[in-house]
Amino acid sequence: MSGTSMKVLITGANGMLGTNLMKLISYEAIGFTSKELDVSDSKKCIELLESKNPNIIIHTAAYTNVEDCEGNPKKAYKINTIGTQNLVNYCINKDILFIYISSTGIYGTKKENIHYNEFDEVNPTTIHHKSKYEAEKIIQSHLCKYLILRTGWLFGGDIQHNKNFVYKRYLEAKNNREIYSDNSQIGNPTSIKDLVKQIEILIKYNQYGIFNCVNEAKNISRYDYVRKIVELFECNCEVKVADDTMFKRAAPVSKNESAENFKLNLLKINKMINWEISLKEYIEKLKMEINEK
Ligand SMILES: NC(=O)c1ccc[n+]([C@@H]2O[C@H](COP(=O)([O-])OP(=O)(O)OC[C@H]3O[C@@H](n4cnc5c(N)ncnc54)[C@H](OP(=O)(O)O)[C@@H]3O)[C@@H](O)[C@H]2O)c1
Repeated sequence: MSGTSMKVLITGANGMLGTNLMKLISYEAIGFTSKELDVSDSKKCIELLESKNPNIIIHTAAYTNVEDCEGNPKKAYKINTIGTQNLVNYCINKDILFIYISSTGIYGTKKENIHYNEFDEVNPTTIHHKSKYEAEKIIQSHLCKYLILRTGWLFGGDIQHNKNFVYKRYLEAKNNREIYSDNSQIGNPTSIKDLVKQIEILIKYNQYGIFNCVNEAKNISRYDYVRKIVELFECNCEVKVADDTMFKRAAPVSKNESAENFKLNLLKINKMINWEISLKEYIEKLKMEINEK
């Protein structure tokens, strides 16, 4: 089937990634918000998927509040794990590519200051990441045509999205002479636009399996990330390193969420560029939107 005649169904279509996937993906796309398709409703999932008959499902919907998941494990497993199972059940024995957006946060704590690759053992430490990993296992044990994409700290969303970390830090820096950020956790700030391009490459080259999908970043902490955001917005604000007591988290997140696109590199199809280049481009776009407001 040619690329352009493929129909892609996107879950979580009002989320930060889902909204932008709908805008950016170059196939015919139909998106469903949580109100239109609650993925934890198994009957509704089957009915809706049968009526739409997609060639590809990109499953972005999730209970994404990592802190809240700790206090609500039932909800986390219901949406993130069972919700995925409901979609997978429909795909079994059908010629559908199932694309699951996972997280580099699932790797856990086995490595310090070294990027995880796809062959590393997975040891999630939080309820959120455990529920995402259980979903990965369900996909792997029931489907052949799947992509599990473990991505990093996403940026590139619209201003109104609650998960828009970049815009939130801009507002904070605009309104304060100094702000604080955590220097203890490393990861990969990752552009939604680059991720969507990479998804299209993986589809084009008929790739299946698990892939890290992050922008290149070498030992970048949240603090480094926030400093770069403030610098690019040219805010008159100093970013200081937060001490241990300032950002107490309910979720025992790993200090190392950083990953490398080991498999994409081995296959010579890694299109994910350096995070700073993509962040700069995104912030230029945001600045224009802010000026137009
Ligand atoms: N943002 C990141 O830095 C990051 C990093 C790694 C991986 N990811 C993964 O990327 C995906 C997208 O994340 P995001 O940043 O776009 O998060 P988001 O903005 O919170 O989007 C998640 C979406 O899922 C929807 N949803 C929640 N419960 C649902 C349910 N029961 N049925 C259907 N939809 C439901 C939400 O709808 P409502 O708003 O209406 O509840 C929302 O539209 C997630 O799978 C996440 O785990 C994100």
